[in-house]
Amino acid sequence: MVAYFVTGTDTGVGKTRVSAALLRALHQAGHARVVGMKPVAAGCDWVTTEDAQGVAHGQWLNEDVAALRAAGTLAVPPVFDNPYALPEPLSPHLAARRAGEAIDLDHIEASFHALRQHADAVVVEGAGGFIVPLSEPDPLTGEGQWATSADLAMRLQLPIVLVVGMRLGCLNHALLTQEAIAARGLKLAGWVANHIDPDMAEQDANVDTLQRRLHAPMLARLAWAPQATSAELAELAASLRLPGRA
Ligand SMILES: Nc1ncnc2c1ncn2[C@@H]1O[C@H](COP(=O)(O)OP(=O)(O)OP(=O)(O)O)[C@@H](O)[C@H]1O
Ligand SMILES: [Mg+2]
Repeated sequence: MVAYFVTGTDTGVGKTRVSAALLRALHQAGHARVVGMKPVAAGCDWVTTEDAQGVAHGQWLNEDVAALRAAGTLAVPPVFDNPYALPEPLSPHLAARRAGEAIDLDHIEASFHALRQHADAVVVEGAGGFIVPLSEPDPLTGEGQWATSADLAMRLQLPIVLVVGMRLGCLNHALLTQEAIAARGLKLAGWVANHIDPDMAEQDANVDTLQRRLHAPMLARLAWAPQATSAELAELAASLRLPGRA
């Protein structure tokens, strides 16, 4: 059983695309039952489907969760691969507040352990960047504690894959994230350079700087490609060096 926690230098840097490619690469490497997990998804659509009896069922569905499900080979109930589906596209703690929910790391941890019982490989996609808040003390009573995505990574004790969204400012974000991972005693298993800005200056020199400053292997370098077709995803999966392998 292998599992990774995918984080990024920010929101919108390509974590989902890389997580989907990682799932495919793990499957190609011989892991039969691969499954993605998005513990907290903020930004969902209400989707209604009909069952065999023609009865309509509605649920909140998030794009990332759908992409991870499409890349995985194991179908599981939403409580396991997406325990929190929050309607509003906000920081998770604010989306939870708007939904009148509290994000509970114990619940996520239990879902993850249930998943790993049934899977050969699990890829957990974090929300936003590494220290994004997931839950907050009650604003009125002060009861409860802050919990962040980093706290979740600590709970799960997984090696981390960092997706660096290649744009101006990413060196600072990548190096801060590396420090935050190391400060928690977690392992940065590898990183991916994802070219999300076609106009970024000095792209090679920036990647070279990251290679010299990040203490983990670069697993892939993704060119700018606005449409993630299935063929592109397959190509990315084939080019991805699996963390921990030469
Ligand atoms: N290499 C790339 N070239 C061009 N566009 C890209 C590339 N990688 C990702 N994108 C686009 O950038 C956007 C954000 O990507 P993605 O959803 O994978 O980011 P994310 O880090 O998972 O975001 P979130 O924090 O919302 O989970 C998407 O529209 C995606 O298609
Ligand atoms: Mg995502």
